[in-house]
Amino acid sequence: MQLLQSIKEKARQNPQRIVLPESMEERTLQAADILLSEQVARIQLIGDPKQILQKAESLGLKHIAQAELIDMSNTDKIDAYAQLMVEIRKNKGMTYEAAVEQLKDPLYYACLMIKAGDSDGEVAGADNATGDVLRPAFQYVKTLPGISVVSGAFIMMLNQTEFGEDGILVFADCAVHPNPTASELAEIAVMTGKTTRAIAGFEPRIAMLSFSTKGSAKHEMVDKVVEATRLAQAMAPDMKIDGELQADAAIIASIGKKKAPNSEIAGIANVLVFPTLETGNIAYKLVERLAGAQAIGPVLQGMAAPINDLSRGCSVSDIVNLVAITANQAAEK
Ligand code: ACO
Repeated sequence: MQLLQSIKEKARQNPQRIVLPESMEERTLQAADILLSEQVARIQLIGDPKQILQKAESLGLKHIAQAELIDMSNTDKIDAYAQLMVEIRKNKGMTYEAAVEQLKDPLYYACLMIKAGDSDGEVAGADNATGDVLRPAFQYVKTLPGISVVSGAFIMMLNQTEFGEDGILVFADCAVHPNPTASELAEIAVMTGKTTRAIAGFEPRIAMLSFSTKGSAKHEMVDKVVEATRLAQAMAPDMKIDGELQADAAIIASIGKKKAPNSEIAGIANVLVFPTLETGNIAYKLVERLAGAQAIGPVLQGMAAPINDLSRGCSVSDIVNLVAITANQAAEK
């Protein structure tokens, strides 16, 4: 809770323009109202301004008129955005006409706003599947220089303060990239370390998880994590990264000491990097449901600008929190 308050406070100090393309979605509109009233971000809503204001009124919302209302059917931006799209994807055969057609989709329009410098970040997904939110971002906003994959981290807030950083752990990748190679996994580890510093606000101790600890099992899946650990350590010599470690050796001090006595982080890891999306996604949901942890995210990392995807089952406060995180990422950038 304290962490969320400080994320919001940081966002307030340096207000960023965050675009919400699903403006007619009730929870999104309610979240926008709270964000505007608390001045967490400068909210941009894509849609017919008249319809947005009518919907806000029907929901009893008082602050929506303070948002920047972006009417895609009455804008002088289409030509510039379409030209930008052709320039970015001409090697993929993108034509001006096809770009104009794509811009009718608010999820594409939002990404072009960011690419053209008209917005600082986006939050969507209350009404759209992950792939539909991410594809336009991958195609037009793209990854950070030197980074080839986008991944998704969750900040897991546990009731038991003996784990991680006073009960907080960062898990990744739990949301995006199904089966990373060793070098992609190394990138995911380093990006998660950076997310931990920027959003969770503590120094990462990163465990590269496997079903083996320091050679206890032999398998090509273990080899991938060993190689990823070596690459991640070389990519970020200023971060504490170790592997391969089993989950218990990563987070329980006595087991870490026993199974990996020479490791600087075994037993006290506060960042867990999973070998595949399957393991990361299953783990975060089990920890959330069985251990009663609060899972904040996914915080997408590695994108050239902050774009975050909500679960369609999200609550109004999930949206508020993710917009605040997105604003922090934008300010950091
Ligand atoms: N990082 C950066 N770029 C990527 C990534 C990535 N992780 N994955 C794909 N891309 C790029 C590709 O390079 C390609 O770019 P190009 O068109 O310029 O060549 C573009 O995105 C489309 O690539 P495809 O391979 O066609 O990807 P597709 O659109 O089929 O799938 C997606 C991408 C949707 C993210 C897919 O990997 C996916 O479905 N992942 C799982 C998402 C999910 O369901 N997560 C679990 C739910 S979320 C939750 O529970 C919190």
